[in-house]
Amino acid sequence: MEDFIRGIPKAELHLHVEGTLEPEMTFALAARNGIDLPFTSVGEVRGAYEFTDLQSFLDIYYHGAAVLRTAEDYHDLMAAYLRRAAADNVRHAEIFFDPQTHTSRGIPFETFMVGFERAQRAAEREFGMSTSLIMCFLRHLPEEDALATLEAALPFLSQIVGVGLDSGERGNPPEAFVRVFAVARAHGLRAVAHAGEEGPPEYILGALDALGAERIDHGVACEQDEAVLRRLITDEIPLTMCPLSNVRLRVFDRAEDHNLKRLLDLGVRVTINSDDPAYFGGYVADNYLMAQRALGLTREDVVRIAANGIEAAFLDATRKTELLGEVQRYAG
Ligand code: ADE
Ligand code: ZN
Repeated sequence: MEDFIRGIPKAELHLHVEGTLEPEMTFALAARNGIDLPFTSVGEVRGAYEFTDLQSFLDIYYHGAAVLRTAEDYHDLMAAYLRRAAADNVRHAEIFFDPQTHTSRGIPFETFMVGFERAQRAAEREFGMSTSLIMCFLRHLPEEDALATLEAALPFLSQIVGVGLDSGERGNPPEAFVRVFAVARAHGLRAVAHAGEEGPPEYILGALDALGAERIDHGVACEQDEAVLRRLITDEIPLTMCPLSNVRLRVFDRAEDHNLKRLLDLGVRVTINSDDPAYFGGYVADNYLMAQRALGLTREDVVRIAANGIEAAFLDATRKTELLGEVQRYAG
């Protein structure tokens, strides 16, 4: 089963590129950019990755991104992720990035977009992987900041397939971002949002109704409200679930408590993804494996989840058919 899981063709739809910054790269970029770190070893950095909730993680995560300065840095970060994803047979990736984490430190939009693009083109050539970017707005900041970020992104829209909403969820409802999502959608961008990770099930409805989200990132809280659960099933709304993240951020106490398999069995369009793999102890295949072992996913479940990821992707029909064919042939 492990080999079957590692090799199955996958789409990854919930991955923050800043969350792929491995401690080894943190040290390499700090040295290259002449930045002093408050840590002396990779082991010490990993030891600091003990989280009690989402915010305790975000505090470390936003800090960590400060070593990213040049287009080369952003290229190296993206290239390392895409190489690692290719090893898990990720055939298509939709990659989140948080512009505000970088522009707030004075990094121009162009710097990271140029770096990302070079790595994406190389992965397409080398691995035959398709990739696109989803620009996330930080929900702990005002909507005005998000609107200014969207404005700054306009020259780069051909590189961006959609917008998302991330950062601390509690007390930051989706309704606060109605205007910026409306403008983004008017520009032809697709919409997703983190909802029901730590926040209440109503935030899932808010993401769908106020923001026009087509997929929900995490969404584990849907189980707390029968009407929300029904809505996800009836409207075939995909959930981009990240089981290792949920356990590391104590959304669930134990892997065995995760509701991914229950939701799948109820007919929810569950997908498996890695969120911030450098911080949560595993890339996408590790997330599949953890869910398979802890929740008893069958081979058919694994195939269904991999196919769900491809069906939920913002891809044209031709590429979807091609990738679904790869999954079918693999599954025999
Ligand atoms: N940013 C990076 N990872 C996140 C998560 N799991 N939830 C909200 N914001 C994030
Ligand atoms: Zn996330």
